[in-house]
Amino acid sequence: MFDEIEFDKIKRLPKYVFAAVGELKMSERRNGADVIDLSMGNPDGATPTHIIDKLIESAQKPKVYGYSVSKGIYKLRLACADWYKRKYGATLDPETEVVATMGSKEGYAHLVQVITNPGDTAMIPDPCYPIHSQAFILAGGNVARFALKLHDDLSLDVDQFFEDLKKALTDSSPRPKYLVVNFPNNPTTATVTLNFYERLVAMARTERFYILSDIAYAELTFDGYETPSIMQVAGAKDVAIETYTLSKSYNMAGWRVGFVVGNKKLVGALAKIKSWLDYGMFTPIQVAATVALNGDQSCIDEIRETYLRRRDVLIKSFANAGWEIPVPKASMFVWAKIPEPFNHMGSLEFAKELLINAQVAVSPGIGFGPSGDQFVRIAMIENENRIRQAAKNIKRFFKSRGVKVSAEDQ
Ligand SMILES: Cc1ncc(COP(=O)(O)O)c(C=O)c1O
Repeated sequence: MFDEIEFDKIKRLPKYVFAAVGELKMSERRNGADVIDLSMGNPDGATPTHIIDKLIESAQKPKVYGYSVSKGIYKLRLACADWYKRKYGATLDPETEVVATMGSKEGYAHLVQVITNPGDTAMIPDPCYPIHSQAFILAGGNVARFALKLHDDLSLDVDQFFEDLKKALTDSSPRPKYLVVNFPNNPTTATVTLNFYERLVAMARTERFYILSDIAYAELTFDGYETPSIMQVAGAKDVAIETYTLSKSYNMAGWRVGFVVGNKKLVGALAKIKSWLDYGMFTPIQVAATVALNGDQSCIDEIRETYLRRRDVLIKSFANAGWEIPVPKASMFVWAKIPEPFNHMGSLEFAKELLINAQVAVSPGIGFGPSGDQFVRIAMIENENRIRQAAKNIKRFFKSRGVKVSAEDQ
């Protein structure tokens, strides 16, 4: 009915590439296959007990069941500001420079919705976390992509980044108003040092664009690497906001708690649209989230060590299977180049082959943008034994296709 009534916004969104692998995964499972699922960035661990205990305690109070505060209760915004002070020495005003959001994805998408005029352009490195680009498309804006280039150790090639950024700025018309950066990066795991943000803030000032930075994986770091924040740079709040989330640091993905902090004008715009759209998270969730940020942080060490052990098992056992993958310094992923003889087929077909022949689900790189098509993203969301099993399955499959694998069993 009503065929003449079209939804233009939805038509601008491409089909979700990951759905193809997801559907195949379900059908393999229905056929009895034991699929090892390393596709989604969905933490498999439990939230630390002291946070759950606080949720239960708070939920037993009678006064917590009404509407909450759309930009987050003051104590939670204060806890976020305190976290930034402790971790980064950055000062944020909890009233005007912090908004609590229903996960950082919701905060980011609504911020973009409210700051994008029709036809506005945002510069987005490619590949990227899909909502970083699609939020602008949904909001009626455009995206100027430029390829993210990394050194062999997966650190960002910073000089190249600035060269490409400059080109994206001058080649785009109208002139871009926004730049999105995400380090540690999803999907490439690329990392940066503080100097990158210093140069970026200086450039944003002279070239007049806002920076939207996403540090979802700030705490998932290894081998002594520490994630910098753009908020450490003097004057960053003039030109930047940053999103952070409890999803990964505290295994709280399902709770939906995140933050948008920094520039008053942007944070204020988000607070205003949220005051129209929602009434905030359920109060006990906010109370427990406050405890997560203010409480004992040793739980993060445990979560980080779990990923570190999985990373080491994955890198070693996949190398044994004939698949050399660079070692990430951060995040919960590895970004793996498709090996010969499969590299001609593109990431979606390769991911399907891996699923059917090795019962291992990974995310095709093309789902993160055109520059990702020679790669797949592998999430470390199953335990070490399952990762070893995944490597065994892949070894058997690779061997059958003539890949040189190690003679040794792992
Ligand atoms: C880079 C990045 N930002 C944000 C998110 C979403 O986090 P949240 O659970 O806070 O919405 C993810 C989730 O995978 C992510 O990879």
